[in-house]
Amino acid sequence: MKDAIAVLKSEHRSISAVLHGLKELARMAQDATVRPRFQVLRSMLRYIDEYPERLHHPKEDEHLFARVLQRAPEARALVDQLQAEHREGAQLIRELERALLFFEEGWPLGAREFAQAVEAYAEFHWMHMRKEEQELLPIAERVLTAGDWNAIDRAFAANRDPVADIEHRDYEKLFTRIANLAPAPVGLGERW
Ligand SMILES: [Fe+2]
Ligand SMILES: [Fe+2]
Repeated sequence: MKDAIAVLKSEHRSISAVLHGLKELARMAQDATVRPRFQVLRSMLRYIDEYPERLHHPKEDEHLFARVLQRAPEARALVDQLQAEHREGAQLIRELERALLFFEEGWPLGAREFAQAVEAYAEFHWMHMRKEEQELLPIAERVLTAGDWNAIDRAFAANRDPVADIEHRDYEKLFTRIANLAPAPVGLGERW
């Protein structure tokens, strides 16, 4: 498998893991007798908001998608759709943040709305990642040249957001922290 494809897929797996964890915690949080540790939920939201936004989508938009379009103009409709989903995802996250804020301030009210917002976002994002892996990547593998892949690999290797001065390893740290703080069965943290 090409390095760049392995990178993208592994980033999808990390996002997916946090989405699964968030869904499970939102389910546990339906128990109105135990106050969730909201900091864990906030950290998870931060991860699924910033990591795709700052490191993952830029790689797709600026490097992979751009080159696929040069070699396969017929992929335009698919690429437009995926890029529209990047923007839509950023909006959906704001709704999720609002639901979490309401939940935290109004606890135990708002648990169901929060779980519904998590569910909606997770479904949306899984659909998006599936479309990339099942529709876009096969086209990329078919049309991109060795030179294209070298350029994409080089661009991916930088792996940082120069504006925010954030690097891939900052998100690895955040991911580890989430795993340490989240209660079982999601993570290794204490029970709520
Ligand atoms: Fe994407
Ligand atoms: Fe992606």
